Amino acid sequence: MSMNTFDENQRRHRLRDDERVWLFGYGSLIYLVDFPYLESRAASIRGWSRRFWQGSHDHRGTETHPGRVVTLIEEAEAVCGGLAYLVEAAVFRQLDEREKNGYLRVSTEMTFDDGSTATGLTYIATPDNEAWLGEASERQIARHIREAAGPSGSNRDYLMELAEALRELGQQDAHVFAIESHILELDRG
Ligand code: SIN
Repeated sequence: MSMNTFDENQRRHRLRDDERVWLFGYGSLIYLVDFPYLESRAASIRGWSRRFWQGSHDHRGTETHPGRVVTLIEEAEAVCGGLAYLVEAAVFRQLDEREKNGYLRVSTEMTFDDGSTATGLTYIATPDNEAWLGEASERQIARHIREAAGPSGSNRDYLMELAEALRELGQQDAHVFAIESHILELDRG
């Protein structure tokens, strides 16, 4: 699959510009909100785990030294917490541009904190995209993240801001928090 997924995403869902759509964010979309939205709510999706297995050539790394950013991996009983935004469909042009380094829009069912549900869209990067980096130990991932940076800032800030945002939402993520601990331990030498 080509690394630039913008065109594919634009073709994927035929949305009217005035339609309102729920977007589920689980990575930088939780804390870096540079798009307009009508409402946001804490939410989770079932059957997916957040993992730092996707490469970033355009935001937190470069073509030659990609950073590591999150994607979702299918796992039957897993629950991934995040933040849902109600957006006007026209906003997906901006979001598709931001997420074009391997992410595809996928339809998903999300559950809000009050137990109600909605169907919406989320961006997932799958192993067949060219920017995919795949599994590594959390310590190796921490080492990688400490070294990487790109046009949107350091890879370390991406991780730290995500961990902080998850704590503020009261959400647990053993993978994210373990990588954060390794980074802090590596800092201490
Ligand atoms: C997301 O935040 O939902 C997608 C991954 C990212 O942009 O970090």
